[in-house]
Amino acid sequence: MKLCRLLCFVLTLPLHLMKITGLYGMYKRLFPLLAYNITFSYNDKMNQTKKDLFRNVSRFANTDGTLRLLEIGCGSGANFKFYPYGCTVTCTDPNPHFEKYLQMSMDANEHLTYDTFVVVSGEDMEGVQDESVDVVVCTLVLCSVRDVQRVLQEVRRILKTGGAFYFLEHVLSDPCSWTYFFQQVFEPLWYYLGDGCMITRTTWKDLEAADFSELHLKHIEAPEVTLMIRPHIMGYCIK
Ligand SMILES: C[S@@+](CC[C@H](N)C(=O)[O-])C[C@H]1O[C@@H](n2cnc3c(N)ncnc32)[C@H](O)[C@@H]1O
Repeated sequence: MKLCRLLCFVLTLPLHLMKITGLYGMYKRLFPLLAYNITFSYNDKMNQTKKDLFRNVSRFANTDGTLRLLEIGCGSGANFKFYPYGCTVTCTDPNPHFEKYLQMSMDANEHLTYDTFVVVSGEDMEGVQDESVDVVVCTLVLCSVRDVQRVLQEVRRILKTGGAFYFLEHVLSDPCSWTYFFQQVFEPLWYYLGDGCMITRTTWKDLEAADFSELHLKHIEAPEVTLMIRPHIMGYCIK
């Protein structure tokens, strides 16, 4: 396995060079278009899973019915249709080139009120006030962030006490599986194709260590999704 991974690493050397020389930056412009299109098929396959995931979001609304939701790494807004009627959504993503696709999703989801789109990394959301949101959402993002623990600290800081953090993330497979083998081998290539996406993360361990008062986490196999990203975790934590 190590030899195969090394071979894959060697084959991706031109991509490493592009990163070092700054040429890979061009992919940041192209990635939102790819992500926007891939989202349609991913959402089709994960429709029921996402419905199940977001089923109880309204439970975290305030007594006057308002609900402030902030999405980290919102990309093109793949989750909007699953959010409850009337909630106010703040979108954040470090890649400003998502804005055009985000706007299309906003136009298609008039049941929500949109606050701002903030270009910011999940590790450092200093513009967002402490204890200011009821719900935070991350889907397919913790695989790409530089520091998962730091993002989770930020989530805890901006969530109101009693608020919830919803997640749906692909993770490392069982070490006895072929999926695990392919994840290990192809990670160096996947990293570049997926704009920094790591397919061998054990994100459930970060969530367990993040000191939320409740953690509701399920391991699932995403139906019909590419083998390398089939093992997922889904659920929510309460601050
Ligand atoms: C695979 S896309 C997922 C987008 C969207 N959440 C979805 O479910 O379709 C990964 C997203 O994470 C964002 N991202 C990458 N690094 C990040 C970071 N450090 N903090 C927040 N978002 C990040 C990317 O810009 C991209 O929008």
